[in-house]
Amino acid sequence: MKIAVVGTGYVGLVTGACFAEMGNDVICVDKDAAKVERMRAGECPIYEIGLPEMLPRNIEEGRLAFTTSLAEAAESCDIFFIAVGTNPAADGSADLTAVHAVAREIGETIQRPAIIVDKSTVPVGTGEEVEAIVREALEKRGDSIEFEVISNPEFLKEGAAVQDFMKPDRVIIGTDSEWARKVMGDLYSAFTHKTDRIIFMGRRDAEMTKYAANAMLATKISFMNEIASLSERLGVDVENVRHGIGSDPRIGYSFIYPGCGYGGSCFPKDVKALIHTAREQDFDPAILDAVEWRNAEQKKRLNEKVRARFGADLSGHHFALWGLAFKPGTDDMREAPSKVVLEHLIGSGATVTAHDPEAMDMARAELPAEWFESGRLRLVEHQYDALDKADALILVTEWKPYRQPDFDQMARRMKQKVIFDGRNQYDPERTESLGFEYTGIGRGR
Ligand code: UGA
Repeated sequence: MKIAVVGTGYVGLVTGACFAEMGNDVICVDKDAAKVERMRAGECPIYEIGLPEMLPRNIEEGRLAFTTSLAEAAESCDIFFIAVGTNPAADGSADLTAVHAVAREIGETIQRPAIIVDKSTVPVGTGEEVEAIVREALEKRGDSIEFEVISNPEFLKEGAAVQDFMKPDRVIIGTDSEWARKVMGDLYSAFTHKTDRIIFMGRRDAEMTKYAANAMLATKISFMNEIASLSERLGVDVENVRHGIGSDPRIGYSFIYPGCGYGGSCFPKDVKALIHTAREQDFDPAILDAVEWRNAEQKKRLNEKVRARFGADLSGHHFALWGLAFKPGTDDMREAPSKVVLEHLIGSGATVTAHDPEAMDMARAELPAEWFESGRLRLVEHQYDALDKADALILVTEWKPYRQPDFDQMARRMKQKVIFDGRNQYDPERTESLGFEYTGIGRGR
């Protein structure tokens, strides 16, 4: 069985590389010719642990190839993974233009019985749409080739994508077709060892499983952020509360870290899309609405704290910012809380010096050029250089080197020893004993 993976974003490229790593023959398809050229040369276009080594190795072994032509891939492939983007449209729904276009092209070009796999996160019912599009394209050709459209959502986390793919908690296969179940079960058995990690279900069930998983995780975070804000008003340290409730296995410790809001390409987009789906069904998604609202508020919490300490007009103030990526382990800045913080600081007249271990190129590309040109925002290579003459440090992303910093050096370099800890990384008592003024999220101070 030869595999085509269409779309080489996080999901597509990791999927293609990991299947090749297990010995499969894979061809990755992307419309971006320049990107395809780079990947052919073994260059990895995204920052993801393990991936840069996997590309050249598998290309050299002849198991991984890249092309801009889906027709070329279709000549030899039996399984087609659709892994193109589904960014939100203006109304919050998932924009399926790219998914539909790929489906059409698959229908126009397949040469043999094919399993077509929706890997992108797509709304419930997309499988039926893709099936209809492929069938129509085949009919136009006057061909009748057997095919199945199945749902196999991806659950990888940025920064741990290769590891998540190689050792999945579960593999969801949504199809009623025995043939497709057999083929997909065999394909994934290399990753799951024990097949009980493969969960078969209906196609719509699988599509919903993906949204429900992300929405549940986003709900945990927004819930904790709400408890944090309440704790703050009651003189409670939410970190103790987190410990206290996480010890209950029914609650668990993961995804209950309060902070300055969830970001990234998945939670914000998927919660919005699920809300949109609910409204289409005339159903009121009260919990999801609240999750989204709380997250938007949470991204402003650091701004409110800075305003409370330094006032609304920040002219003449200078801030150090640690962490631009939406989370550690990635250079991705999509929906990053750092953007909301920077907009407020710079918009209120402050200057900022920022550092991030991986996302500084991304910041140069994504943030308004005028911030850099006007000198309002400066990026520095070393984390401590960001602190010089700062009125305060704002910690936005909990990268490892920020977790146990050299407080003496910080104290020497900062103008005022003020820390806004957006990820509750520091012990308030310890930092205060070192002479810092400390403000966390939901810590009663
Ligand atoms: C998320 C899911 O975790 C993956 O399972 C899923 O496959 C992926 O979306 C997707 O749909 O493709 P990802 O967006 O890479 O993965 O990032 P996460 O590690 O889940 O973090 C998301 C956000 O939540 C980050 O901004 C993080 O800082 C925040 N977060 C996470 C908290 O604020 N508190 C927590 O306790 C955990």
